[in-house]
Formats: sequence, C-alpha cells, structure tokens
Amino acid sequence: MADSPVSTHNPNPAAPSDDASPQQQKQMESAYANMKRKMSMQEIGRKIKHKVMVLSGKGGVGKSTVATGLALSLAQEGHSVGILDIDITGPNVPKMMGLDRKRLHVEQGRIHPAQGHLGVKVISMAFLLEDEDTPVVWRGPIKLGAINQFIGDVEWGELDYLVIDFPPGTSDEPLTVAQSLPDIDGMVIVTTPQDVALLDSRKSITFSESLKVPVLGVVENMSGYTISGKTSPGNDIEIAGPGGKKHKTTADSDGNFNVTLDIFKQGGGKSTAEEFGVPFLGALPFDPGFVRGGDDGVHRIVSEPEGASAIAFAKVVEAIKSQIGSSKSQGLEII
Ligand SMILES: Nc1ncnc2c1ncn2[C@@H]1O[C@H](COP(=O)(O)OP(=O)(O)OP(=O)(O)O)[C@@H](O)[C@H]1O
Ligand SMILES: [Mg+2]
Repeated sequence: MADSPVSTHNPNPAAPSDDASPQQQKQMESAYANMKRKMSMQEIGRKIKHKVMVLSGKGGVGKSTVATGLALSLAQEGHSVGILDIDITGPNVPKMMGLDRKRLHVEQGRIHPAQGHLGVKVISMAFLLEDEDTPVVWRGPIKLGAINQFIGDVEWGELDYLVIDFPPGTSDEPLTVAQSLPDIDGMVIVTTPQDVALLDSRKSITFSESLKVPVLGVVENMSGYTISGKTSPGNDIEIAGPGGKKHKTTADSDGNFNVTLDIFKQGGGKSTAEEFGVPFLGALPFDPGFVRGGDDGVHRIVSEPEGASAIAFAKVVEAIKSQIGSSKSQGLEII
C-alpha cells in the first residue's frame, strides 16, 4: 500500500490534507472517486440479477427496437426491468419509451432513472442533451468516462433484468461496459436477413471473444411481413410476393388467412447462428407499427400487447431466459 495514492492515515482521502500539493490532492480525489465508483459497480452488479447486452455489427437493424421490446416484454411478464441506452451520439430509447424530452433526477449525487412504459426504468444520454438536434461530439476518454459514470452513479435499485442498448459496431462502448459491469449474462446479436447485415453480425460474434461475454444468441429482425385477409372458408389462396415469388395458403374454416412475405429473405439469422454454433433466439416480423411507435412514443408491445409482434418478442424472451439459465451453468462462451 506504500505507493497507493490513497493515504491510509486519512479516513477520508478526499478531504484536504495539510501537506498535500494541489496536484496530489487532485490525484487523491480522483482515486477516491474511482474507488467509490468501483464499489458502486460491484453493488449494482449484485442488485441487478441479469444483465443483457444488445449489439449488432451494422447500424439500423433494429437494436433499439429489440432492446426496448425485450425490456417491455420482460416487464409484461412481471419482472422489474431497466434499460440503459449507451448510444451517446444517437440515443433514441427515450423516444421509444414515451420519455421524449425528459430530464434526469439527481438526488444526493445519485442519478435516478426515469420510468417509461410498464414501469421500465430508463437511463439515456438523451436525458442530458439540451437539444436533440445538435449532435454530441465526444472525445474518446470523455465518452468512456461518461459511460462509467452512467453505470456507477445510477440508482437502479433491485432489478431482475437490465437491458443495455449500444451504438452499432464493435466499438469501445461494449468493451467499456463489459470491463466495468460485473457478471454480464451475455449478448444478444440483432441482424436483418440481408447478406450485408449477416456479414456484420458474424463480426459481432467474433467480437464477443475479446469481450469475454457469452453470446446468448442471434435474433433475426424484420424477418418477413405478414398480411391477413378473409375469403370463403377453405379457399386456396395464391399471392405473388416480392420478386414474383408465389405464396400459397388455404383459408381456415372462418375464411381467415395469413401469408408471410419475405421482404428481404428469411432464415439468414438462423444459418449464421448455426454456422457459429450459437443459439438462434427467434425471428421478429417486419411490422410498420414499430416505426409508428418510434415516432409517437408508444412501443408496439404497449399499443398491441396481444399482437403478433408482442407474441414474437415473448418467444425471444423465453429463448433468452433459457440461454441465461444454461449459460450460467454450462459457461457458454465462445473461445
Ligand atoms: N421489425 C421491424 N419492423 C419494422 N420496422 C422496424 C423493425 N425494427 C426496427 N424498425 C425500424 O427501423 C428503424 C431502425 O430501428 P432502430 O433504431 O431500432 O435500429 P438500431 O439498430 O438501433 O439503429 P442504430 O444503429 O442507429 O442505433 C426504426 O425506424 C424502427 O422503427
Ligand atoms: Mg439504436
């Protein structure tokens, strides 16, 4: 301890000491703040049962939509849930959670999350921005310091799940979070069925090696668009989908039918998961309601809790829960 910047003689190292130079005192204060933050991270780690990161290699594939959807789906099941929006340059979780233009509440030096739909606690950099149209340019160390502060200084309370949304790509942010927050259960990789997105999600899977965070699995978003209709009971239907592909189905005894059209194509997420030996967590349909929800602040799961998208999310949540159970016991980690 002789070379520790924190004096063992002073019970409060941040308090001024007679013989410390201003520079030494600054160092002591910073060491003390870091130590406090580290202890706080450990405490947060203990109080939050499960932590799940949501990542993708490519931008715009629906990470924030999936992260908010997972949080809401878990909350719908009765879990206490938080969502941490780490996207510093383009934070859009608050908007999706009906918390646009909300400001954070700080009490006794601790940041208190805002409460979004279904009581989900939300922390986002957007809450600190004066003007959402002005892009924030953060230099590397400041950005990473802000992330650590976000994690260490937030009063989450007891949570069953914390879902963490990231900016696209294999950047510094996931690395910082993985190094700071103890016991992360794993990462969910979001992809769309296009080749380019799949290629990038392969990078994310490889990236997990350097983070030493298990891959819980791959979710295929915007996977097919389902149309519904009514005709005479038992009628055979044929619909020409994108690219002229024929889709056939038969109406049920009430005359109702559903056809899922492959807007891009389907199954790529599953084959990528198989290729890398990681679980496929399920497919989420292309649903224009997500776009409306992103604009008007009412997430699809809240506006239509029994709808096809909410059901698809619930299935993905079940798959994630079963992976969390098995990865804890079997140590599912790509090496
Ligand atoms: N399943 C879906 N069906 C229809 N639209 C969707 C779906 N998922 C996402 N979207 C829409 O696609 C756009 C991008 O989604 P989102 O912001 O969630 O992506 P992202 O991966 O978080 O983006 P970024 O990389 O910028 O953080 C949004 O307008 C969203 O409403
Ligand atoms: Mg996003």
